[in-house]
Amino acid sequence: MRILILTHGFNSLTQRLFVELRDQGHEVSIEFDINDAVTREAVELCRPDLILAPYLKRAIPEDVWRSQRCIVIHPGIRGDRGPSALDWALLEGEEQWGVTALEANAELDAGDIWAEVTFALRPARKSSVYRHEVTESAVEAVKRVLERVLDGGFRPEPLDYTNPRVRGRARPRMRQRERRIDWEQDESATVLRKLNASDGAPGVLDELAGRRVYLFDGHAETRLRGAPGTLIARRHGAICRATRDGAVWIGQLQQRIKGEPTMKLPATTLMGAAAWQLPEIALPVDAASDSETYREISYHERDGVGYVRFEFYNGAMGTEQCQRLLSAYRMALARAPRVLVLLGGRDFWSNGMHLHLIEQAQSPADESWRNINAIDDLAQAIVETRDKLTIAAMSGNAAAGGVFLALAADRVWARRGVVLNPHYKTMGNLYGSELWTYLLPKRVGAERAERVTESRLPLSASAARSLGLVDDSFADAVDPFLAEVHERATELARDPALDALLRDKQRAREHDEQQRPLQRYRHEELEKMRLNFYGFDPSYHVARYNFVHRIPLSRTPFRLALHRARRSG
Ligand code: COA
Repeated sequence: MRILILTHGFNSLTQRLFVELRDQGHEVSIEFDINDAVTREAVELCRPDLILAPYLKRAIPEDVWRSQRCIVIHPGIRGDRGPSALDWALLEGEEQWGVTALEANAELDAGDIWAEVTFALRPARKSSVYRHEVTESAVEAVKRVLERVLDGGFRPEPLDYTNPRVRGRARPRMRQRERRIDWEQDESATVLRKLNASDGAPGVLDELAGRRVYLFDGHAETRLRGAPGTLIARRHGAICRATRDGAVWIGQLQQRIKGEPTMKLPATTLMGAAAWQLPEIALPVDAASDSETYREISYHERDGVGYVRFEFYNGAMGTEQCQRLLSAYRMALARAPRVLVLLGGRDFWSNGMHLHLIEQAQSPADESWRNINAIDDLAQAIVETRDKLTIAAMSGNAAAGGVFLALAADRVWARRGVVLNPHYKTMGNLYGSELWTYLLPKRVGAERAERVTESRLPLSASAARSLGLVDDSFADAVDPFLAEVHERATELARDPALDALLRDKQRAREHDEQQRPLQRYRHEELEKMRLNFYGFDPSYHVARYNFVHRIPLSRTPFRLALHRARRSG
């Protein structure tokens, strides 16, 4: 089928549907919802069999939905309507939630129902539920819609609130009033529910050290206590605030300044001096996790396998985070297990350098330089590991330097639903480092390497496997993926052939080093990056500014809008 995806932006769900439908052999083109005239023109140029709208913030123009079948993906159960679907479901502690595929008509979210897929709702961050359960269910719902469209005989079900299967209802946009935390009264569980229901966007509006800020990235804390509402501790970028019955950690803040674009930052960075006065409660990387708390990096061993786990908000890795991760990695190298698994976060493996921290630095060029060197140090340490078999296990998506960092490991395993963006150029023609000029061609060959980086398109895990970019992909959900990673890693650790495998690995590395030293790859990449950061062309700085401030693109790039690329020849 020829499918036009009409969307507010190329977000994770849109990317997943794009790669999934392309893998299934459909012709998929994208148009960003910029204005009605542009949408009409796109439909005219594309002449699609079906329009899919996975992420829209406005209604589809009437003449478009009247003349074309438009299927809207709504992150709510049958009958649920409104722009805050997941927010309400999480705030009200629903146990079951779902995704509905419905036909666009004159009333928002009230069209005939083509498919509904339900799931158990995790009490987690909205952004995480969106990236996992909602995305997986949307893929399934779209699959059913396509089967039903092709079948021809299917009649979608009109929305009828007298039908007992219709459990949802219309709800308004959730306001800050409903999200507001009462620090004197709310228990930790309530505070976390409010933070979770608001994570990603818009956050919970609050006041901290005299500033109006949005709070994000809440974590439970079961040991620390204090007078309700007071700040009691800090750890790395996060601050800990007491509630009526305990405390919670807050990892990210975004300042609210009317009329000015702002961005999320680690809480201690945004608070500055007010945060430094708080006692730092350290937690060793290898401390046993017998209580809930905030930790970005941890190390543990199980059945002869070492696990270095890192979970950075939005997969963004700042200079100091890379340095801490490198120390944890070095500590793991000194331990016994000969199989080491690098476990990125549940939602993201890594998205490379921390563009928000770079943006707010006094000299973004200098901070970019420090950040890329810190991430390169880590990539180099992984490549140079001689006596352990390293495995990158990706349960979440990865982009740019984050993908290449994973390739530094000996084996790369990805969850089936993972989407990879193995390219840098969309960020203002950034050249990229992380030893990608060594790692990528080594895995996929020079020609494919060029295709992957130049196409600037996302790849599904299975497409990445066919290319040789990852070694294997398995399991649909995170927990089964982690269980299978453990099973496979344990098998490798017990395999009598491990010694021989490690010897081969060392020989291959020595051979490669003789051909061309690693340092040379790094040096040449960094010389190009120096130009990106300090040269005359400001493209990277402009692209980063637009990215961190969520400034929408004014047109859909040709690599996505195939209907426009065709016309332009
Ligand atoms: N640094 C800082 N923040 C980052 C980031 C990075 N490298 N990558 C993603 N984020 C943040 C976004 O700013 C956004 O912040 P928000 O929570 O305030 O909205 C959040 O992560 C989610 O990003 P979004 O783009 O909405 O997620 P997505 O899943 O739809 O798309 C990517 C994911 C990775 C394709 C996209 O975020 C991206 O292109 N990131 C930049 C990658 C990059 O160029 N890294 C630097 C070079 S190494």
